[in-house]
Amino acid sequence: MIKTIETTPYADQKPGTSGLRKRVTVYQQPNYVENYIQAIFDSLEGFEGQTLVIGGDGRYYNDVAIQKAIKIAAANGFGRVLVGQGGLLSTPAASHVIRHHKAFGGLVLSASHNPGGPDGDFGIKYNVSNGGPAPEKITDAVYERTKVITSYKIVEAGDVDLSRLGTQQVGGMTVEVIDPVADYAGLMETLFDFEAIRALFASGFRMKFDALHAITGPYATEILEGRLGAPKGTVVNGVPSPDFGGGHPDPNLVYCKDLYDELMSADGPDFGAASDGDGDRNLIIGKGRFVTPSDSLALLAANAHLAPGYKAGIMGIARSMPTSAAADRVAEKLGIEMHETPTGWKFFGNLLDAGRVTICGEESAGTGSNHVREKDGLWAVLLWLNILAVRKQSINDIVTEHWATYGRNYYTRHDYEEVDAGIAGQLMEDLRASLPSLPGKSFDEVRIVYADDFTYTDPVDGSVSGKQGVRIGFEDGSRIVVRLSGTGTVGATLRLYLESYEAVGGRHDLETQTALGSLIETAETLTHIKKRTGRSEPSVIT
Ligand code: G6P
Ligand code: ZN
Repeated sequence: MIKTIETTPYADQKPGTSGLRKRVTVYQQPNYVENYIQAIFDSLEGFEGQTLVIGGDGRYYNDVAIQKAIKIAAANGFGRVLVGQGGLLSTPAASHVIRHHKAFGGLVLSASHNPGGPDGDFGIKYNVSNGGPAPEKITDAVYERTKVITSYKIVEAGDVDLSRLGTQQVGGMTVEVIDPVADYAGLMETLFDFEAIRALFASGFRMKFDALHAITGPYATEILEGRLGAPKGTVVNGVPSPDFGGGHPDPNLVYCKDLYDELMSADGPDFGAASDGDGDRNLIIGKGRFVTPSDSLALLAANAHLAPGYKAGIMGIARSMPTSAAADRVAEKLGIEMHETPTGWKFFGNLLDAGRVTICGEESAGTGSNHVREKDGLWAVLLWLNILAVRKQSINDIVTEHWATYGRNYYTRHDYEEVDAGIAGQLMEDLRASLPSLPGKSFDEVRIVYADDFTYTDPVDGSVSGKQGVRIGFEDGSRIVVRLSGTGTVGATLRLYLESYEAVGGRHDLETQTALGSLIETAETLTHIKKRTGRSEPSVIT
């Protein structure tokens, strides 16, 4: 039943920040999926007879790619595949299933927060046995393999019925269709005080969770409305659809504007939250108060001990380099380790495995902990709920108290999307070339104290990752960061991150863009992004 099929390489199968993301139409080319999955298996060793987890966010083409993945896994010698019913598994749930069932690894089929549908995006990411995204040494090997691949192996068999729970056979391999929610919901019950959160809802606390027609619908409905007793209708847009109901499954203030407006109105709910296509990102809004992802990381770290899973305290915190330094101040106060890593959740894996950090987060709306090896949208929502249930204060009060204790890091990100890749590349090169001349120069009477291109040395395995983004730091603690996104699928996306620090006792109530106004101007003087891209405004401001 095992067939070896000849194929020719594709030149563009280089995994980015988070797996291989491409337009669906690219994935639909002959053997495109087959080549990539075979290249992954060719880059791994020792999986004979082992378990592979497969699941995705239900987006368009998931169903087709899953059947291929199962048959290729069978032909390559895996002993068992665990797959979520309907082909569904959120990214954090996939990470948990890999760990819980001691699988060799997993394939996560998703393009995260990118739009879906026939004209949207698709993606494949390989996760290793700790449940986290494969490290660069594996993704680099996969890319090298894709460039020279000449054949792939596949079992000739009918499709697996993914609607039916239980086991089926594909060639010599067992396929077990599992409930995608059960294991994950069980894990959440071990971390959080469900009784206290149930009491919070019973007291009339109102929440709205927007699943954006994506993967967290079934998880949020079961956990929030089912196990925690939140009123029916707390979860909206809760049925996953292949094109996310025609929407953009990115939980930011642009695509969740309705939710934001509701939370800003006097009779709105107490708490608003959303998650992205594959369930690893989160948006947190309290009544009258949006919480930036960087602040949310700091707040969750400072209050984690209020949840049973973290009551012994946290070991350390890690954040990606462009994420604001708000969490650093919490780590300092707690006297625990703080780590600054490159963008990409995979860089947290070693620190989590080594027990050096417990909580991690990124400005790109990801927060998570050592419970899995992915960021986890619902986990962040549940930790917030646990904190609210214990502190019995509003989100706004908790945030403003936090700033009064630690000072406030004003923070914004300006994205320039679909920029010509040549222009963006040249801009970065010129900017890098200018860095040595910057320290000592002053803008708006504030002196630059360092200017570099971030290089990360992993403290656990010593691996070095260079060219991770330009950082320009000023003597007052403000900072400009510029990097090219590693997740875009069309042209280049330039990201400009801006941060300033207002100490304890300072002004903490300014509008963010106003507070950062002069730094935004300095950034243009130093980078010429607007001038060189011909854009007058960023495409997205978060
Ligand atoms: C994905 C990754 C994150 C990363 C984000 C933005 O969600 O999992 O780790 O922060 O993409 O990456 P980018 O390269 O587009 O800035
Ligand atoms: Zn995601």
